[in-house]
Amino acid sequence: MIRISWLVCLAAMTWSCESGPGAARGPATVHAPIAKAPPPPPVASHKVREQMWAHFEAAAELQRAIAQGRLADARELATWLATKAEPRTPELIGAALRIQEAPDLKTAAALTGALAGACGSCHEASKAAPVFVIPREPADGPSIETQMQRHQWAAARLWEGVIGPNDDAWFFGVQAMENAKIDLRWTTKAAPPPEAVGFAEELRGLAARAPNVEGRAARAEFYGTMLHTCASCHAILRSPPKAP
Ligand code: HEC
Ligand code: HEC
Repeated sequence: MIRISWLVCLAAMTWSCESGPGAARGPATVHAPIAKAPPPPPVASHKVREQMWAHFEAAAELQRAIAQGRLADARELATWLATKAEPRTPELIGAALRIQEAPDLKTAAALTGALAGACGSCHEASKAAPVFVIPREPADGPSIETQMQRHQWAAARLWEGVIGPNDDAWFFGVQAMENAKIDLRWTTKAAPPPEAVGFAEELRGLAARAPNVEGRAARAEFYGTMLHTCASCHAILRSPPKAP
């Protein structure tokens, strides 16, 4: 009896290791089983955690797709979240469907905040507090690519801040946003179009406002407004996305 429970325990340890965030992103951390015993059926919580990393990947990829101007990809991910992601709430389904039906990138961008907010409200209701591993902030540099990598990093932290909800991630994002710059001299040889200068200023204004945005709903709305600003500038300055 004691031996059996040890086996189950060891197998359970292997399982929890395999179902962590690393494994959900790729098979690299799958280890050989410790005992010959078959793995135990996953307990509910492990199953939910695995499903949640699938939610997380889909939602993170969705906000990247929008920032990068890939509306078709964003719609596809929204469709998956609205129809296949388990578990899902009416709030999540509604938010994902609105993105799926968005006529353009800017509209889709403004709706992403509500999607992240739907994740966050279920987490709050179920007293779940996802832990995010914060990657290293990209180093500063003069090129627009470098500056944009830093904006993307900031946006990802704010996103996690709303999904958690997670104050630490939010404030890492706020700080990065305050430090990030946009030097449009790198984008064009001629003077940049005034609308683009306007969007750069809008983003700076948002960065100044970010530290005072409190609460999940206000942060969700802020995120949507910010991504709308990113997408608006990309709509005029970026070369069209390359087909995959
Ligand atoms: C139906 C409610 C619900 C919805 C909707 C929901 N989650 Fe979760 N989520 C949970 C619960 C419950 C847990 C805690 C699971 C556990 O630790 O057992 C969790 C945990 C997580 C975790 C941490 C997993 C871990 O390994 O600890 C992440 C990441 C996550 N959710 C992301 C998301 C994202 C992104 C969305 C929205 C696209 C989302 N969730 C929507 C209920 C939900
Ligand atoms: C004032 C205009 C402007 C704003 C605002 C802006 N960007 Fe950009 N972004 C650019 C330009 C210009 C490029 C490069 C265009 C190209 O070469 O396709 C770019 C490229 C990018 C790239 C691709 C970088 C690469 O490696 O090629 C990402 C990611 C990105 N932006 C994220 C963001 C995010 C996130 C925000 C909002 C927080 C944002 N951008 C706001 C102008 C802007």
